[in-house]
Amino acid sequence: MPRYSLRLATISASVLLIWLLWYTLEPRKTAYSCRTFKSCIGLGRTNSYGPSLTPQSQSEDSLVTLRDGTLRYQRIASNADPSLLILVLNKDGKSWSSDFRSTPRSLYDFLDLLAVTGLNISTVSLGIWTASSEQFRNMQVAVDRLPFARVAIYHQEDTSEGAAYENRHNPQFQLARRSGLAKLRNRLMLSALQDEEHILWLDADVVELSPGIAPTMLKHSASIANAGIITAMCHQNEMDNYDKNAWKLASPELLGSVPDDEREATVAKLVATRVFVPELIRGTNDSAIVPVDSVGGTILLIRAGLVRQGLTFPHYNIVGTTWGETGWIGVETEGLCYAARELEGGGCYVLGGGHHARHTDWG
Ligand SMILES: *[C@@H]1O[C@H](CO)[C@@H](O)[C@H](O)[C@H]1NC(C)=O
Ligand SMILES: *[C@@H]1O[C@H](CO)[C@@H](O)[C@H](O)[C@H]1NC(C)=O
Repeated sequence: MPRYSLRLATISASVLLIWLLWYTLEPRKTAYSCRTFKSCIGLGRTNSYGPSLTPQSQSEDSLVTLRDGTLRYQRIASNADPSLLILVLNKDGKSWSSDFRSTPRSLYDFLDLLAVTGLNISTVSLGIWTASSEQFRNMQVAVDRLPFARVAIYHQEDTSEGAAYENRHNPQFQLARRSGLAKLRNRLMLSALQDEEHILWLDADVVELSPGIAPTMLKHSASIANAGIITAMCHQNEMDNYDKNAWKLASPELLGSVPDDEREATVAKLVATRVFVPELIRGTNDSAIVPVDSVGGTILLIRAGLVRQGLTFPHYNIVGTTWGETGWIGVETEGLCYAARELEGGGCYVLGGGHHARHTDWG
């Protein structure tokens, strides 16, 4: 081989390799798409869930159209007796999001996340809501990877305007969007819940969980009577506190009734004075748990007994509601703790120490 073509081949190979690494490797942290060398260069996923995690041999599938037009795919393992229901909302393929310079995620990545939570998947049921018919079909195949006790996937087209993904952080759209989200959460939660003891909400774009986070939440719920609702710190690579819905009230003036003409000022005061999770948990260790007044839905454990007593996600600003008008804050997850008050075990907490969920870079 002539020398120059050898050099050309070497250069081409190097360029290709650099391009490949540049495209798939996340410089700050290894992306999930590059967890193994094979997955990094696109040779499929090489996850092993351990010997106990082989798919259920005996299970029953069904696909039905519910009275309101929702499609429901269900798979129930024989002798299934799940104690934890994991719930996730999905709009379409993009909801699984992606990290900086990583390949897009999918339900498979989400399942990987569940596989390493330290939970016994045979005792877990999974409930998914998707607005995408393509996702609905793919999910039925994907969920076979893990031996869930029960899987229920619901599909209905999304018709709400406020849910437009691009608008999701624009304050003008926030109330309508979160009201829609609350209704979807309630729809999924009330449909999927059977005899489970706990519900664990996870956002579709959560990429990483601290080790043992779910068992720790369950342990606290079992040992602290009031800890029926537990969340954890959520961060992004570039943002320490991603979950702006988890906070504790700090101003006593916010506890009383709010005159109509002071609503805006009161919201501003709440926003200015509330204490976010990083500050609340500073100095605590992994076995600590700290009370909060509001939670987000990134990762959220709810004792199912609360839901059976009527707890749902408020679809309007519930705080300060009168017969004349709805309140000034507290839609969706932000009003959950408020709605749970007076219920036995309706206290809200956040895990201390290093427990956290990591959200993808985008979104
Ligand atoms: C997981 O749960 C199933 C069903 O309750 C049980 O049969 C199995 O032994 C458990 N596996 C482990 C590793 O605890
Ligand atoms: C965590 O902190 C609590 C209270 O500050 C303390 O009682 C406990 O021993 C600590 N646990 C560990 C594992 O350090």
